[in-house]
Amino acid sequence: MHLTTSSDQLQICLEIATEAALAGGAVLQSYLGKLEEISEKGRSGDLVTVADKDSEAVILDILNRHFPNHAILAEESGKLGNTESEFLWVIDPLDGTTNFAHQYPFFAVSIGLLIAGVPQVGVIFDPFHNELFCAAKGLGATLNRRPINISQTVELSKSLLVTGFGYDRRETTDNNYAEFCHLTHLTQGVRRSGSAALDLAHVACGRLDGYWERAIAPWDIAAGIVLLEEAGGKVTAYDSSPISIDSGRILATNGYIHPFLSEELLRVPSLPFKGILKM
Ligand code: IPD
Ligand code: CA
Ligand code: CA
Repeated sequence: MHLTTSSDQLQICLEIATEAALAGGAVLQSYLGKLEEISEKGRSGDLVTVADKDSEAVILDILNRHFPNHAILAEESGKLGNTESEFLWVIDPLDGTTNFAHQYPFFAVSIGLLIAGVPQVGVIFDPFHNELFCAAKGLGATLNRRPINISQTVELSKSLLVTGFGYDRRETTDNNYAEFCHLTHLTQGVRRSGSAALDLAHVACGRLDGYWERAIAPWDIAAGIVLLEEAGGKVTAYDSSPISIDSGRILATNGYIHPFLSEELLRVPSLPFKGILKM
């Protein structure tokens, strides 16, 4: 396969990614409410559990079996496989670990495929609600096999947004608190769900109108980028320039509110939260 991957080949990748996401999701469900140990990865609040690790193991097993020559970037295992390959699977085996650890039912498996650096296949599976989001470049986006589309909201004042706060939020004033306050005033609300992958999926199916976040990793957004673009939405950097998947920042909307949200994000100065931060 090459950059001009045929739609049949993309379809095969999508089917295998779906099989892997469903398998990972089944592992997550089997551990929900039964975790005996929850560890921190180093940074305060950045959790990892046996569910993250076992979900990743079954996903890797399926992808390796079908695509032994592809490269992989998985959150818990890092870079694997053939690093020369232009096919790169980007995996978050459990997006929303904090929610999962608290049995707050908002978490997902996220599997994206980049071909020559471009996200082309994306599957996000929410096992608690049994919602399967799938997309491949040129083939559309679906939720439980039915086509999905972005919302029709055109005004920021009528929009419902979502965002998140990175694990470094106690260490920097560039922690998205100011943006959150600013946009909460300008819109019908800003949610903080705790799963970037589901945030993108919910913009893709029109439940939300826009999402932005900083300090985000490629595995949080690889699948969601394809999903949202295929559902008719727009994904860029904060300033509306093309997104680089490892830049750490993402602006993702229904397209209509994109210029307005971009303008407001660029306008907000960081808050000097000295009373809260240890500085
Ligand atoms: C986190 C979630 C959260 C986002 C964080 C991510 P994890 O992923 O997507 O919504 O705000 O930045 O790191 O750690 O649960 O896989
Ligand atoms: Ca994640
Ligand atoms: Ca994760």
